Amino acid sequence: MTLSLKPLHPLFAAEAGGVDLTQPLPEDAIRAIDAAMDRYAVLVFRGQPLSQAEQIALAKQFGPLDAGLRKATGAPTRFQYEELIDIGNVALDGTVAGRDNAKLVGVLANQLWHADSTFQDIPVKYSMLSAVVVTEEGGETQWADLRAAWDALPEKTQRHVEGRMARHSAFHSRLSLGDDRYSEEQLMRFPPVERPLVHVHPGSGRKVLYPSVHIDRVSGLSIPEGRLLVAELLEHATQREFVYTHTWRSGDYVMWDNRATLHRGRRYDLSARRDLRRTTTLERPAARAAAA
Ligand code: OGA
Ligand code: MN
Repeated sequence: MTLSLKPLHPLFAAEAGGVDLTQPLPEDAIRAIDAAMDRYAVLVFRGQPLSQAEQIALAKQFGPLDAGLRKATGAPTRFQYEELIDIGNVALDGTVAGRDNAKLVGVLANQLWHADSTFQDIPVKYSMLSAVVVTEEGGETQWADLRAAWDALPEKTQRHVEGRMARHSAFHSRLSLGDDRYSEEQLMRFPPVERPLVHVHPGSGRKVLYPSVHIDRVSGLSIPEGRLLVAELLEHATQREFVYTHTWRSGDYVMWDNRATLHRGRRYDLSARRDLRRTTTLERPAARAAAA
């Protein structure tokens, strides 16, 4: 097995080939993909349509799966597996969801810059999106390289943000879109979590600037100052030079590292069918100390 890699952007993101994703991956292929993820953070595989079962089996080879926000909303799924996360605009009955369908809030919130599930206490690692039906126009997905964003941050700003904690809240971005249908119980299921605004990416050892629309407060600052700082950092991190834009084809499979990138979807005509399914892995359980 030789994993082929062709860079898609000067800083990160590569098109990967040479593997059949429908088959169990040999250990050396998994190691090669992990190494490529540590370098590129976004890998695009073209022409790999997957059944739901194949998608689950593939994702599990990279770690235990996480069901995301549905753990709190308990929204019903149109898929055969609980761990498949719905990134489409398709209703439970298979038709394109109408404008009044509550699930569209999630679709729209995905158009704001974020990393997946940073609002939960158990950190996630990879997200992997399989494209079933894509739109003719719009509906691209963009990723921003947060390691490059850190490197390019003026030193004075680096000093201003390093050491601060950011509070990530599951419903902040949805509330900001005017969606306030959540019960106290749902809100309680995802209490906000504190994460450093700058962290070290374990796979590359590089520093990562980590802003997100999920952040509603920054330590040591008033709420408005913190939100303005996050807006400023988002603006910095998502400048053109740090962003790769992916135009989807049906059968694409894209995986990314949520600890090194932000992403967002782009606007599309919601009456056109867009059907993508995601899996997300948890960071592998930490290795036990040698002395244990
Ligand atoms: C996701 C996501 C954006 C899009 O799959 O996690 O945010 O383009 N997707 O749909
Ligand atoms: Mn997402």
